[in-house]
Amino acid sequence: MAAPHSPRSDDWWRDAVIYQVYPRSFADGDGDGTGDLAGVRARLPHLAELGVDAVWFTPWYASPMVDGGYDVADYRAIDPAFGTLAEAEKLIAEARELGIRTLVDIVPNHVSDRHPWFRAALEAGPGSPERERFHFRPGRGEHGELPPNAWPSQFSGTTWTRVPDGEWYLHLFTPEQPDLNWAHPDVRREHEDVLRFWFDRGVAGVRIDSAALLVKDPALADFEEGADPHPYIDRDELHDIYRSWRAIADEYGAVFVGEVWLPDAERFARYLRPDELHTAFNFTFLTCPWEVGRLRRTIDATLAEHAPVGAPATWVLCNHDVTRTVTRYGRADTAFDFAAKRFGTPTDLDLGTRRARAAALLTLALPGSVYLYQGEELGLPEADIPPERIQDPMHFRSGGIDPGRDGCRVPLPWEAEAPWYGFGSDGEPWLPQPEDWAHHAVDRQRTDPGSMLTLYREALSLRRSEKGFGDGPMTWLPAEDGVLAFARTDGLRCVVNLSDVPAALPPHERLLLASGPLRADGTLPRDTAVWLRA
Ligand code: NOJ
Repeated sequence: MAAPHSPRSDDWWRDAVIYQVYPRSFADGDGDGTGDLAGVRARLPHLAELGVDAVWFTPWYASPMVDGGYDVADYRAIDPAFGTLAEAEKLIAEARELGIRTLVDIVPNHVSDRHPWFRAALEAGPGSPERERFHFRPGRGEHGELPPNAWPSQFSGTTWTRVPDGEWYLHLFTPEQPDLNWAHPDVRREHEDVLRFWFDRGVAGVRIDSAALLVKDPALADFEEGADPHPYIDRDELHDIYRSWRAIADEYGAVFVGEVWLPDAERFARYLRPDELHTAFNFTFLTCPWEVGRLRRTIDATLAEHAPVGAPATWVLCNHDVTRTVTRYGRADTAFDFAAKRFGTPTDLDLGTRRARAAALLTLALPGSVYLYQGEELGLPEADIPPERIQDPMHFRSGGIDPGRDGCRVPLPWEAEAPWYGFGSDGEPWLPQPEDWAHHAVDRQRTDPGSMLTLYREALSLRRSEKGFGDGPMTWLPAEDGVLAFARTDGLRCVVNLSDVPAALPPHERLLLASGPLRADGTLPRDTAVWLRA
């Protein structure tokens, strides 16, 4: 196993590699078919060997799991299916001993309809103070039979649900995820307290779910295309919330990463001002097609938008909401768009894997931090989930058109020959694993020099030992059409060929790492990347 990482300075997050754990599907310690904290603890050596700096856990709190845990019933309790709070504390400490910091996921926009606040609001009835913590309103129409407005949902379908006493409540996601009223002081106080609760338990950072959606137009005015400000996206009042969160994080030396989906670069960067969030996910890069001009423009735009606020960029290829990288890159349309997801899209996995390997070296060479979603290091493709096993509400709310997100959430394969690929010992995993995943299993890949896992381990190890990677400047180098070539400090170079024409490598002293074999004449084939020392 690699030596434990020496703790870095307070700036560790500026160039960290952060591994996303989806606890339900990582490893099942008690054999009931659902991943849990015991499973994560047992598999921590995998993460240490891989060489990540931190782990971000998607919500592990008590939840009815209507939306995979993004429907939180109690922020201060671990869901019993995952374990206990004491176990979470042990896990945080054990990971830290291996040099791995922990980030938790806070979901401030909404709670579960099982949350005590929402139960109390239902019981207390119209006009009660309990209802003020949410957005309850009478309906429109003669008998209040129409929803208060026609705001579009973040999942398809309606954003309002009527309760038996006739009032309606707002939910940007499913009806089981009522939106909180962020104009209410209880809501602010409670979240500040929850942040402290987890920072007190040694958590080094927080991922903020739906970070740009919290504040709503108080008039709940109807939505008009192009409305500025938008009634619920990116409202100016949000920044005040994050300033007070930042003050709390600073007391603990903890950091934030915001889930901020915003096309406007200048508006996006506002969340990253020095007294707000430390970082935010780079969804422009995640959705970018595998196309040389688009990639280069996206990289340039990302660096340009971060520079004025002094925040490091993040590089993300995939997460628990989107199509897995090797699948996306193996399709005719290599961009990602929620609205375009369909069953049965033709996919060339060999092509996608080749590109995903090159993309791994590209992202890990760029300035800033990198997010890695569990299974990405194994080159897992998106799985086809039989319709009767699908659980994701996005599928159901689309009327069955969108396959949903379960295909990227399938329990991990650890051992090629074991039942359920070693995910757990007894119970069938909560989502079915494809029959042909043995070659993706960790134990097969560990000893295979050509595997995705070996590539990631080598890349992460080099990225750690070579100080020129991570945060810092980058310069584009002259390159042939279809080729991305850039220099980092210390003579480090990254070259990626996205064209059909083999590319000559720039002069170099040493080839540090390649995502695939070079041609016999030393040129770089299509969809291949190298790291060089000049
Ligand atoms: C974003 C999360 O990543 C996603 O999984 C969830 O469904 C929504 N926010 C709602 O919380």
